[in-house]
Amino acid sequence: MLVNKMQNYHVITFGCQMNEYDSEVMSGLLEQMGYQAALQPEDADVILVNTCCVRQSAENKILGLIGRLRKYKKARPHLIIGVGGCMTQQKETAQRLKERFPHLDFIFGTHNTHELPDLIEQARTGKKRLLAWQEESVGLPEGLPVKRRSGIKAWVPIMLGCNNFCTYCIVPYVRGRERSRLPAQILQEVRSLVERGYKEVTLLGQNVNSYGRDLENGMNFAGLLRLLAGETGISRLRFVTSHPKDFSPDLIEVMKACPAICEHIHLPVQAGSDRVLKEMNRKYNREYYLSLVENIYREIPGVAITTDIMVGFPGETDDDFAQTMDLVRRVRFANAYMFVYNPRRGTPAAQRPDQVPEEVKVARIKELVETQNRITLELNQAEVGRVHEVLVEGVSKTNPGVLSGHTRTNKTVLLEGQHIAPGDIVPVKITRATLTYLEGKPVAGFS
Ligand code: SAH
Ligand code: SF4
Ligand code: F3S
Repeated sequence: MLVNKMQNYHVITFGCQMNEYDSEVMSGLLEQMGYQAALQPEDADVILVNTCCVRQSAENKILGLIGRLRKYKKARPHLIIGVGGCMTQQKETAQRLKERFPHLDFIFGTHNTHELPDLIEQARTGKKRLLAWQEESVGLPEGLPVKRRSGIKAWVPIMLGCNNFCTYCIVPYVRGRERSRLPAQILQEVRSLVERGYKEVTLLGQNVNSYGRDLENGMNFAGLLRLLAGETGISRLRFVTSHPKDFSPDLIEVMKACPAICEHIHLPVQAGSDRVLKEMNRKYNREYYLSLVENIYREIPGVAITTDIMVGFPGETDDDFAQTMDLVRRVRFANAYMFVYNPRRGTPAAQRPDQVPEEVKVARIKELVETQNRITLELNQAEVGRVHEVLVEGVSKTNPGVLSGHTRTNKTVLLEGQHIAPGDIVPVKITRATLTYLEGKPVAGFS
C-alpha cells in the first residue's frame, strides 16, 4: 500500500496529551505508507483532524476548521480529508459530520486509528465516503508505528480509557473502559526511547493511579514507576493524570526513592465544596484532598502540584464557590487549568435542571483566574535566585534568540548558553520570573 510519488500529510490535533500521542501514531501510520510530513495543510495530500469533545468550545473550533478545509478540497480535488478522535467517537456526531460536510472522505472513532491505512487507501481508490466506528475497543493496539514530534521528550501511554464516570465528563464514553498495557511492553518502549537518546518520558493515562487493576500480574502504578525508573536509565520520568482518590502512600515513597521521577504532580481537584465533589462523583472530599496535599508537600521537598478546577457545576452556590476559592488559597497550586462547566450530552450533570446562569459562571471564573494567577506569579517570583535542573528542549517558540526548557517541576525556563544544546540537562540559576515562564543563566561551568 505504499504511495508511489511523493505525497504529504498534515495532522491537526485538538485536546489532551492522549490525543497528541494518538496523532503521533496517525503520523507513524502515514509515514509507513510513504507519506511525508507537511508543515502547512495547504501543502498536504492527506489532512487528518484529531478531535476533542471535552468542552463545547473545542467542538466549535473544530467545526469551524472542518468548514474551512472545504476550500482546500475545492482547490485540489485529489486531497483526502479524514476526521477522527473523541468527537467522532460519538456516533451521532460522526453521522452528523458526514451529512453536513460532504468534503470529508472518511470519519473514524478512537478505537479505529489502526485502520487508517485502509481508510486512506479506500479513499484514494474508490472515493467512497466511509465511516469507521466501533462502540468499544477490542484489545490494546500494540506495535503501531509512532512518529514522535520531539527527539528529547516522549509520551508513553500506560493505560487507555476511564472507569470513573465523573458526572460532568464525556471521556469515559469516548475512550472506553480502563485497559492497562502490560508492564513488559511499556518497559520495552521506554528502553528503546532511552537507546534513541530520549531524556524524558511522560506516562499517560486518564487516571494513572489505577494502572494495573485490570491486569493479573499484581502490578500497580507505584510498581511500574519503580520498574521504569530502575530498569531503563531514563533521565526524567513524569506522569499525568493522577486522580486524588487513588493516590497511594506507596506512590509518594517511590517518588522519594527514585531520582528520575520529577517532582511534579498534576492532581485535579475540580472543586472545593464537599457537596459539589459528591455530586461530581469524585469519591473524595475536601479534607481528604487537603491532607493528601499536606503529605505530598511534607514528603517531597520542592514539589509542584498543579490542578484542574471547574466553576459553575450545576447547583453550585456562592458558598460552594467560596469553598473552591478557599481551597485554592490554601493549597497554593503551582498552576491550574481553570474551566467553566459545560454540559456534555449524555452525561448525568447535563440533564440537571439547576444549571448555573452564564453570567454567574463568568464572574466566578474571572475571580478564580485572578487569584490563581496571583499565586502562580508569587510562586514563580520566589524561584528567583534558586538553581533548577533544566532539560533544554530547543529554541524558544516565542523568543527564537534563546533556548527553552523545563525544570523538574515542569516550569518553562528561557536561558542563554553558547555551548548548550537541546537534550542537555543543566543547572540554571533563575534570574527573572513572569506568570508563564522563568528566565535563568546556566551556573558557572555549564554555559
Ligand atoms: N482524566 C483527567 C482529566 C480529563 S479532562 C482527570 O480525571 O482529571 C480534563 C479536564 O477537563 C478535567 O479535569 C476537567 O476539569 C475538565 N472538564 C471535563 N469535563 C468538563 C466539562 N463538561 N465542562 C468543563 N470542563 C470539563
Ligand atoms: Fe473524566 Fe473523571 Fe475520567 Fe477524568 S477521571 S477522564 S474527569 S471521568
Ligand atoms: Fe478531549 Fe478526548 Fe482528551 S475528549 S480531553 S481529547 S480524551
